[in-house]
Amino acid sequence: MNWLFRSLNSSIGKKVIMAITGISLILFLLVHLANNLTLFAGPTTFNTVVKSLDSIKPFVRVIEVILALIFIFHIFNGVRLWYENKIARPTPYAVNGSSKNSSLLSRTMIQTGSIIFIFLVIHLSTFWSAFNFSDLHQTHTYYEFTADMFSNVYYAIFYIIAMITLGFHLNHGFQSAFQTFGWNNKKYFPLITTLGFLYSVLMAVAFSSIPIYFLLIGGN
Ligand code: HEM
Repeated sequence: MNWLFRSLNSSIGKKVIMAITGISLILFLLVHLANNLTLFAGPTTFNTVVKSLDSIKPFVRVIEVILALIFIFHIFNGVRLWYENKIARPTPYAVNGSSKNSSLLSRTMIQTGSIIFIFLVIHLSTFWSAFNFSDLHQTHTYYEFTADMFSNVYYAIFYIIAMITLGFHLNHGFQSAFQTFGWNNKKYFPLITTLGFLYSVLMAVAFSSIPIYFLLIGGN
């Protein structure tokens, strides 16, 4: 068991954990987005999708625990890597010119990650807790609750800012994860970079389109 802790604690171990958890979160976002986009199909479809998840609750709970562990590992390791980097280089990039060595997006992963973290806490304490642990269904349908939340201009703007920030995090994160797995040769890396760019734009635009839609139609 000791060897496992030692390997996970090494710098390459931490990078591999970041890459595996990052790619798992990338895949999770695709499923989550597909679910959320059913809002555009109208109340009946969205309410049916959410209710169908209710009918397989034990399975959903297991997935949620796995997802929470992935987030915890990702955040814990991300903060550790950032801190170790900071200790190793107290005045970062002062001497050799920052833009030459790393991009702005790669240098701000901890900042974009922290904004996503704040978003996550607010998002879970509004949507997830209302859908799972409140008597919301007695007064609202899931669709009505979502429409009400997004027709609040402050909540909608905060959500959109968080999704743009997520796009920045993913634009660097996508290519960085594949680089960790060694996909950084001349032939494939441009393709990975382009895919990462398209994926991050898709996430930022598609997730943001939902609050924009409800702001425009003015609730339900
Ligand atoms: C849905 C949410 C998130 C997704 C999809 C995501 C995705 C990713 C990916 C793919 C990477 C690249 C991994 C690698 O370098 O191999 C990454 C890196 C990173 N993430 Fe996230 N992330 C998310 C949330 C967060 C949060 C909440 C934090 C909180 C601090 C965070 C902090 C970091 C940091 C600091 C790095 C850079 C680590 C390094 O130095 O290599 N991320 N993320």
